[in-house]
Amino acid sequence: MRANLTTLLFPTILFFRFLSPSKPDPDLLHDYCIADTSAAAAQSFHLNGLPCLDPALAQPSHFATSALSKSTNPAATLFGFNVTLTNPATSFPGANAQGLSMARIDLAPGGLAPPHAHPRASEVTLLLQGTLVLVGFVDTSYRLYTQQLRPGDAFVFPKGLVHFLYNFDPVAPAVLLSGLSSQSPGAQLAPLATFRTEPQIIEDVLKKAFKINGQDVQRIQRNLGG
Ligand SMILES: *[C@@H]1O[C@H](CO)[C@@H](O)[C@H](O)[C@H]1NC(C)=O
Repeated sequence: MRANLTTLLFPTILFFRFLSPSKPDPDLLHDYCIADTSAAAAQSFHLNGLPCLDPALAQPSHFATSALSKSTNPAATLFGFNVTLTNPATSFPGANAQGLSMARIDLAPGGLAPPHAHPRASEVTLLLQGTLVLVGFVDTSYRLYTQQLRPGDAFVFPKGLVHFLYNFDPVAPAVLLSGLSSQSPGAQLAPLATFRTEPQIIEDVLKKAFKINGQDVQRIQRNLGG
């Protein structure tokens, strides 16, 4: 009986393990793993992430970053938003392999971080500055959850789900700070993932997917800078 159960369970567990679309970042085997960004390290071996600096060379400054202290200019961007993400290779070596990153989101007046998804991370965002900011996400039943945030309020976007951030203040910019549960969250913006791919998705597919005609497809592509 036990043998039968095991022979049944084992392939089932394997099946669901490989079917599982996303896995958390691998656990650390050390206290930390400061990214060694030297050219020598890059040439010596490759791994999933960045090689660790010799712990004897660790400095307090490795665990700090000023990458999020500077405001960015979102005004000239396609949607009026500009994101700064911490990067263990360039701005935050001590955060390497900790399974997290942070992002600063600057929204222009009327600026929008359009519907997008992070395949490898949950995100919690905190409104630092701004009063008329609407955030929301859509679950896999297509139910929409939105909230207007006040400064100091936070909102969580579940992993992999499509979400947006909209500053509907016509005058004042807004700033949000996000924590993400991966050092490599990835991002797919819905407008670009459909109308601005390289190479382009064939027109018939876009026409049928959005119930529009060829002129609509071309207009949307042009509007998105294509
Ligand atoms: C985002 O802001 C930075 C710093 O102000 C700027 O260099 C960059 O060009 C901006 N991004 C876009 C897409 O305009």
